[in-house]
Amino acid sequence: MVSVAIMGHGVVGSGVAEILLTHKQKLFASIGEEIYIKKVLDLREFPDSPIADRFTKDFEEIINDLEIRIVVEVMGGLHPAYEFVKRCLKAGKSVVTSNKELVAAYGAELLEIARVENVNFLFEASVGGGIPIIRPMNQCLVANIVDEVAGILNGTTNFILTKMIEDGMQFRDALRLAQELGFAERNPSADIEGHDACRKICILASMAFGKHVYPDMVHTEGITGITLEDVKYAEKFGCVIKLIGRVKKLKNGMIDIITAPMLVPFKSQLANIDNEFNGIMVRGDCTGDVVFYGKGAGKLPTASAVVADIVDCCTHLKQRRFLYWADGKGDNIINVNESE
Ligand code: HSE
Repeated sequence: MVSVAIMGHGVVGSGVAEILLTHKQKLFASIGEEIYIKKVLDLREFPDSPIADRFTKDFEEIINDLEIRIVVEVMGGLHPAYEFVKRCLKAGKSVVTSNKELVAAYGAELLEIARVENVNFLFEASVGGGIPIIRPMNQCLVANIVDEVAGILNGTTNFILTKMIEDGMQFRDALRLAQELGFAERNPSADIEGHDACRKICILASMAFGKHVYPDMVHTEGITGITLEDVKYAEKFGCVIKLIGRVKKLKNGMIDIITAPMLVPFKSQLANIDNEFNGIMVRGDCTGDVVFYGKGAGKLPTASAVVADIVDCCTHLKQRRFLYWADGKGDNIINVNESE
């Protein structure tokens, strides 16, 4: 039996608990051991959960429990997530997170701690919700030198733009609907101002190019200024407006990275990715373009990616997955002048 703790019982955390409980047999068959939720960290008074008796408000109960080998961080936000994750890694526990803000801000540091402690720090759910992208890039495409990664990386804004394009819905109404459906961040300004997509392209860029790319290095625009008129205008040019995160390798070895609404021609694969779906194109020097597509937000799609990482940790309890990039601070790898 492998004991895990889940920190946070919001949309994603409750989805993780649900999958671990309802898919128990399936997961047992795949790893030959039971994944047991020993603790859930949540501040709610009366949690709505079949395992409410295992809830705690005290992080120390998790860190001091030697049986807990894997900690799932799905609280979101930087603090106290960063402090908790760091302490867990230093205590020799593997950590799985869906928290892109955390990985984009502290990924290099946390990966380094995981390397030193010989534990895993995995974050498949931090980019693309239910779409496998971190592991495929890290493992299946490892033979490639990546030339470009570009994609629709935020489900909320893609949902809003789709509703504006297809139903003529006003921006605010579409945002409210996305929030009701559980796609949006706690603070939806991270979605609509492009920061969420920026964090995700930073994670993919860091992985592709081996140096940590920090969000504040990246030109970032959201979709708050996009009107129904813009959407109709784009259509006249045979295009749709999509919020795109893109990173490209330049001939001089530097990288060009941007997050912004862009005109995407109807014939492009990304133009047909609607609603909360995400689509990510990775251009490898050996493979050419490889495209990943699926639900980029929502409870069970995101929880599915978290559970995959838990399973990966279970099968590699004594061996670290090779997932690593260095802190690129001061390396000046981004060529801001080339950004369009
Ligand atoms: N708010 C995010 C989105 C959730 O809309 O894509 C998944 O990261």
